[in-house]
Amino acid sequence: MLPTLPTASTMNTPHFFQLHRIDDHALAAEAAAGLQASPAQVSPKFFYDPLGSRLFDAITALDEYYPTRTEAAIFEANAPAIVEAVQALTGLRPVMVDLGAGNCAKAARLFPVLQPRRYVAVDISVSFLHQALQGLQREHPAMDLVGVGLDFSSRLQLPADLVDGPALVFYPGSSIGNFAPDDALRLLREARALAGGGGLLIGVDLVKPTALLEAAYDDALGVTAAFNLNLLNHLNRLLGADFDLRGWRHVALFNAPESRIEMHLQARAATTVRWPGAERHFEAGERVHTENSYKWTPEGFAALLRDAGFARVQRWSDAQGWFGVFLAGG
Ligand code: AVJ
Repeated sequence: MLPTLPTASTMNTPHFFQLHRIDDHALAAEAAAGLQASPAQVSPKFFYDPLGSRLFDAITALDEYYPTRTEAAIFEANAPAIVEAVQALTGLRPVMVDLGAGNCAKAARLFPVLQPRRYVAVDISVSFLHQALQGLQREHPAMDLVGVGLDFSSRLQLPADLVDGPALVFYPGSSIGNFAPDDALRLLREARALAGGGGLLIGVDLVKPTALLEAAYDDALGVTAAFNLNLLNHLNRLLGADFDLRGWRHVALFNAPESRIEMHLQARAATTVRWPGAERHFEAGERVHTENSYKWTPEGFAALLRDAGFARVQRWSDAQGWFGVFLAGG
């Protein structure tokens, strides 16, 4: 039998919105202000230039970097139970909102069981979503697909008509770990409002022995070091700065009192970095703080979800308790 192609009447087409423009000048000003601060600090969003995104993909394939494959295994082992629990909150065929959707692959794996009636992929730049959504539409010709360009790290709010009725907000990958507890709480409250009485399905990296955590962020191949150092390449382009990458070292350590992995770039020798209109001197050993990745206990994250207003919290984990997939509703 010949494969049947969708006809014009059954084949939907994705819709795209960029909610606020990503302004290179504003980004450059933000990076410059961070470099001038004491201690110097730059947001982890500056990792993700085109090469940085590919280096992050490479990180997810490393033996030491357990989160991606552990989360995938949890979803794979528990998909029917997770989807049943989601549907108990949202009803059948919910709208699914994917935060930081990227290539949309994690959400797409749930489509066969969840069958969302609309899929809203949110990422910082809508241009990242074009290819992925066009490919998804070919596989799911009748599904309503929407791409939204939005930096939800400052505020998560979507046009009201995009999310009608109880929705599933999906936030996998433990990206919530980049938020300090207060900011995480704010984001979870906004996610709860967005879900409109539905649910939030979120992946969270959990506290574990320091040696395992530090190896995951300082792998033997040096991929995470390259990912961290590449931020300086990005700043050189964005600001017109003159960072010499060979003069900087990757540092990753677990700050136990704050329960977070910290990544820094440390100057090997005293140096002055210049860019149009400004400069910054670094002493030997001085650092630029580039990332926090918070690690939660299962009880701590459940309490945060309750603080955010969710009355019902369920969790699935791997046998070692390294990673948690939480479903929050109510
Ligand atoms: C994308 C924020 C989940 O914190 O593990 C990986 C980023 N940084 N290796 C993480 C990251 C260094 C990652 N998140």
